[in-house]
Amino acid sequence: MEKAKLAPSILTADFTNLGETIALLEGCPAVGFVHFDVMDGDFVPNISFGAPVVRSLAGKARLPFDIHLMVTEPGRYAADFVTENTEYITVHAESATHLDRTLRLVRSLGVKCGAALNPATPPEALDYVLDIVDQVLVMSVNPGFGGQSFIPASLEKIRRLAGMREARGLDFKIGVDGGISRANVLDAVEAGAEIIVTGSAILDARDPGAELRAFDELIGGGME
Ligand code: DX5
Ligand code: ZN
Repeated sequence: MEKAKLAPSILTADFTNLGETIALLEGCPAVGFVHFDVMDGDFVPNISFGAPVVRSLAGKARLPFDIHLMVTEPGRYAADFVTENTEYITVHAESATHLDRTLRLVRSLGVKCGAALNPATPPEALDYVLDIVDQVLVMSVNPGFGGQSFIPASLEKIRRLAGMREARGLDFKIGVDGGISRANVLDAVEAGAEIIVTGSAILDARDPGAELRAFDELIGGGME
């Protein structure tokens, strides 16, 4: 089994120093992606940033980008987030009226597509699109804000998705997003999560570098 990768979210980073933040993340072998939380103040009750922020880092960062669109009708905006670094564009099952069409649109842009599930949405919401998704992102908080508490029922959802994937012989990745800390990251990995989004636990830590190293040891990346 491949090792789980961290996808730190820059949502709570110091936006005047994003380059330094990315450099810090790039020094940690367990970090596989930079996670961008795009919020529109409509699908979620908060506004974060849009494509210009993502585009300004593309080409400068080495890490692939994991774009999480928490916006109404994400199909309208997906193309704006395609950059040389973009690996995944993830849309919410609850916000794309025509989810199948939106996922296919993302794929047609030449990047991988992800489908995110709010805490109250069952895995079965993806029954008929599971074969075209590259990632299922299990929200372990209600999206909109960093720093919330992990919702334990998410672990069962991750296990069920892993079971559905095996039963159907599919190979999408399972991500988990929200409230991840050193106290629960191994539970998420053991349940089957492979892309671990972390926001406040790392970037709001007093020493983000030390926190990253501690996460790295836990999930077995090993520091260079
Ligand atoms: C939630 C976002 C997150 C989140 C992660 O709306 O999708 O990626 O802010 O932050 P923490 O780890 O602080 O929950
Ligand atoms: Zn996110």
